[in-house]
Amino acid sequence: MHSKWSGRCDDCGAWNTITEDLPLSEGPSKSGLGQTRGKALALGALASDDTPPPRTLSGIAELDRVLGGGLVEASAVLVGGDPGIGKSTMLLQAAAALGSAGLNAVYVTGEEAAAQVRMRARRLDLGTAPVRLAAETNLRDILTTLEKERPDVAIIDSIQTMWLDTVGAAPGSVSQVRAAAHELTSFAKRRGTAVILVGHVTKDGQIAGPRVVEHMVDTVLYFEGERGHQFRILRAVKNRFGPADEIGVFEMTGTGLAEVANPSALFLSDRDQPAPGSVVFAGIEGTRPVLCEFQALVSPAPAGQARRSVVGWDGGRLAMILAVLEARCGIPFAGLDVYLNVAGGLRVNEPAADLAVAAALLSAREDSSLPANTVVFGEISLSGHVRPVGQTDARLKEAEKLGFDAAIVPEGAKATDGRGVRVRKMPTLQALVGDVFGAG
Ligand code: TYD
Ligand code: MG
Repeated sequence: MHSKWSGRCDDCGAWNTITEDLPLSEGPSKSGLGQTRGKALALGALASDDTPPPRTLSGIAELDRVLGGGLVEASAVLVGGDPGIGKSTMLLQAAAALGSAGLNAVYVTGEEAAAQVRMRARRLDLGTAPVRLAAETNLRDILTTLEKERPDVAIIDSIQTMWLDTVGAAPGSVSQVRAAAHELTSFAKRRGTAVILVGHVTKDGQIAGPRVVEHMVDTVLYFEGERGHQFRILRAVKNRFGPADEIGVFEMTGTGLAEVANPSALFLSDRDQPAPGSVVFAGIEGTRPVLCEFQALVSPAPAGQARRSVVGWDGGRLAMILAVLEARCGIPFAGLDVYLNVAGGLRVNEPAADLAVAAALLSAREDSSLPANTVVFGEISLSGHVRPVGQTDARLKEAEKLGFDAAIVPEGAKATDGRGVRVRKMPTLQALVGDVFGAG
């Protein structure tokens, strides 16, 4: 053993035979941090007169709303969604809008050739928009370019195609995606650029999904919607600069995504006459009231397992409501297939929809429809009580605006008649069963 370079072996006398061997790592250094001190931090008070971060409006109102009132500089935004849902389309439109508003906008595509993006831009009638484009996946080159250009906004489509030469894994793997996102978010903080990352939701484990970078960015938006529907919903699931759960509603047209200013009208647009199993829920999405239609179908199940199928609502929550109906109201659904659907491709997450779901199930099962022009909302507890929910006024106002004249609401709701909507208060689920459906 030699502690430094040596030309000749002490044991056998041979020259140039000694090779260097690094000792096994001993793990983190044993000496504590306290021995070599860092510099002391200046601790400040919470109160300050810093101005709120400057924002830029893209001019696409639905997008600006979801961002919490515009794009914040030096922030990192993740836009996730299924492949083909319209992420590239929307971000190209956003880049064009921001560019036209005077910002320096850069769009880096790692998925498509530059010619493909140009072709799409022409089809969207944005062929001459002031957006600068590059097709590249090597993050070292991209960062060098961004450092040089210092754009106001940089769109990276998609994070899963980017790779760092310092990471040995394939593009799209968890370590590459994490490392690329880290580099880009720290660039955003360092240089004041707003960086927008696109992330595809993936079904298998080969490619890392957008979830692995959610914690690194300031804002996480998901693009939702059913492939067959033309509606697309952009939902903020995390936002350090605004309310989460805010939604923006778009419609996919032949010339890109169009904003939908009045989503309630859209979600109820192809509603027929009141039908058994159909109930309108007065919901709140973010800061906005949105009416939508719950549709239920109950049919005898062929022998064996009864089916429970849900689109746009939580399956576990449906099971709970079926259990409450059975245990508290004596209305069994055993031996019946139950299908529940939110019309229009909207996903509802509010517990306030419980009462509407229960009403739709009862209405389907009893084959009797609710009175026309009625909206329903309220949360159901396991005891069968209907609990009040927030923003009663906003819900009723929206219902009135769309021509509804009756509402079934929780007993504790702070709602008064008076306006154009007649309010019917339900203390319990049993009361709904008895009063409205005459069953139980
Ligand atoms: P795209 O933005 O490429 O999806 P993503 O980036 O999320 O994978 O959108 C793909 C779909 O959108 C494609 O199936 C065609 C449709 N589309 C339109 O209907 N109209 C249009 O103007 C454009 C550009 C796309
Ligand atoms: Mg794309």
